[in-house]
Amino acid sequence: MKFFIDTANLDHIREANDLGILDGVTTNPSLMAKEGIKGQENILKHYVDICNIVDGDVSAEVIATDFEGMIKEGEALAELHPQIVVKIPMIKDGIKAIRYLTDKGIKTNCTLVFSAGQAILAAKAGATYVSPFIGRLDDISFDGVELIEQIVNIYNLHGFPTEVLAASIRNSMHIIKCAEAGADVVTCPLEPIMGLLSHPLTDSGLAKFLADHNK
Ligand code: G3P
Repeated sequence: MKFFIDTANLDHIREANDLGILDGVTTNPSLMAKEGIKGQENILKHYVDICNIVDGDVSAEVIATDFEGMIKEGEALAELHPQIVVKIPMIKDGIKAIRYLTDKGIKTNCTLVFSAGQAILAAKAGATYVSPFIGRLDDISFDGVELIEQIVNIYNLHGFPTEVLAASIRNSMHIIKCAEAGADVVTCPLEPIMGLLSHPLTDSGLAKFLADHNK
């Protein structure tokens, strides 16, 4: 399973990367805005800065919602750096854009996926990754992890090469559940990643070992 960090915060990306467990980065327009990255030039430079920190795929989202606009933006994003994966929303023109970019050899990440049907379309269009948002499903009382399981089963059954990238992960338990469900990738903020480190018995056990050593 690959581990991506879902942020545009360079310090968080460096911290996760320094752990030696990071395989890539996902961003979206909200995450870029959260870091105060504004204006096309700054946004593009920020993507390159991210690529220079991490070895692995970096998802950069298009803003256009029409086919022509999405492919134009997508091609420009892909030219920025070989690690860029073009993130395209799950809409009708988005599916067409994924097909077009895939045929041109450009990697894509189909985002805002909330159903197995949407995931099937993304895979048929040739998306490199499909991003089901599990936290947002949980928010409306649907089981996000169940959707990951369903998509993983369908893709395995039919041999779709599209990787299931579990997104909108809010806590460490989500990461574990998505790993159990067979997600190819999990993407989440730094906090749930660091949360995986903690166990009170590790802390008390280590304290006792050190105390005994010092006796
Ligand atoms: O990768 C998608 C993610 O950024 C959305 O997360 O917490 O805003 O639902 P969230």
